[in-house]
Amino acid sequence: MKPAPKPASHPPPVSASVNRILIVDDEAASRELCKDFLESDGYDVETVGEVQKAIALLDVKRFDLVLTDLSLPDLSGIDLIKQVKYRHPHTDVIIMTAFGSVSSAVESMKSGAYDYITKPFPRDLLRVTIRRCLESHNLKREISKMQNELYKKDKLAAVGSMAGAIAHRMRNPLNIIQMCAQYLENHLSSNKDVLQVVTAIEEKVKTLERLTRDFVEYSRASHIRKSPESLEKLTDDVLKALAARCQIQNVQVVRRFQTQLPALLVDADLVREVIQNILDNGLEAMKGAGTLYVAIEKNQSLQALLLTITNTGSVLPVELQEKIFEPFFTTKDTGMGLGLAIVKQVVEGHGGKIQAVGDPATNMTSFRIQFPINEPPKGGE
Ligand SMILES: Nc1ncnc2c1ncn2[C@@H]1O[C@H](COP(=O)(O)OP(=O)(O)O)[C@@H](O)[C@H]1O
Ligand SMILES: [Mg+2]
Repeated sequence: MKPAPKPASHPPPVSASVNRILIVDDEAASRELCKDFLESDGYDVETVGEVQKAIALLDVKRFDLVLTDLSLPDLSGIDLIKQVKYRHPHTDVIIMTAFGSVSSAVESMKSGAYDYITKPFPRDLLRVTIRRCLESHNLKREISKMQNELYKKDKLAAVGSMAGAIAHRMRNPLNIIQMCAQYLENHLSSNKDVLQVVTAIEEKVKTLERLTRDFVEYSRASHIRKSPESLEKLTDDVLKALAARCQIQNVQVVRRFQTQLPALLVDADLVREVIQNILDNGLEAMKGAGTLYVAIEKNQSLQALLLTITNTGSVLPVELQEKIFEPFFTTKDTGMGLGLAIVKQVVEGHGGKIQAVGDPATNMTSFRIQFPINEPPKGGE
């Protein structure tokens, strides 16, 4: 069959979750029987009766394993294996073949199936085959996750050490260009053409300044200087600085802080930076009027303060939930993609965790940060 365009392959999930299995079989009774059996083993199972439907479902949902019959009404199980291996290389396939069709079993394996079982099979054989496949699947997933983490850490370290040097080298010349532009603006303000050029220079200098600032902050994010601080106060500092911008953009801020929260041992500047970056992104993502919800509460069982920042008017796609924290990932034309990489580095540097979720039902995106409560040493640090 003609290969359809390859979609972005779904990355393996982050947390160890229940394995998801898709059963493809045109016999309704046998696929439902199989589904019940596998669900009783704790798997999350869905079923379809045709190859095309399976392909469509796999494009929108992540499955760890496809258990497919070989002969199906529309296309063959071999076609399905080829499609799965092409479009979703992380998904494994086990084939169910009729007794005696060794050649098709061999062809399935050559096309990338993990294993095959001949029908009719005892339940225990199915159970063992699936378990073995998913054990190896989960192991591969863990290894790939660890490799990704290592790669990101290397990338972070390299960028961090370059950042300071680049920023310092750029800041001086930028200051001089800005001063010169201001001089021209003051002395040639009567000439409209010149003024336009000068304004353009000043705008570009501002962009470059933002870029160098991001680099400096990025390199600084790993140097944490802790002192006892109130998270509510740090959040309010940022909200205050953003009040005018919110007013201009017609954004309402809804602030819900629990009372009598304990102090945190944190780097005040860096935590303010974290909050600022998330609010900046929220305001940019809303593209106009809306609401920003900012909440702080204590979670007793986690021994942590939870800061949740939610904005209306944007839904972060599921497939970007992890990616947005990678250095240089941006969906904006003028974005640097360093804001959330800084945020993650700072939060994790404080022993905390961060998670971003978009909710299509409410058209909102939330960033949830967990800061551990460490009792400050008596008499301060
Ligand atoms: N509140 C949000 N809603 C939707 N997408 C968001 C939100 N915040 C961040 N993002 C996504 O995360 C990406 C990375 O953000 P960031 O690291 O701050 O870099 P930048 O702002 O330069 O793009 C953004 O380009 C955007 O796609
Ligand atoms: Mg940003």
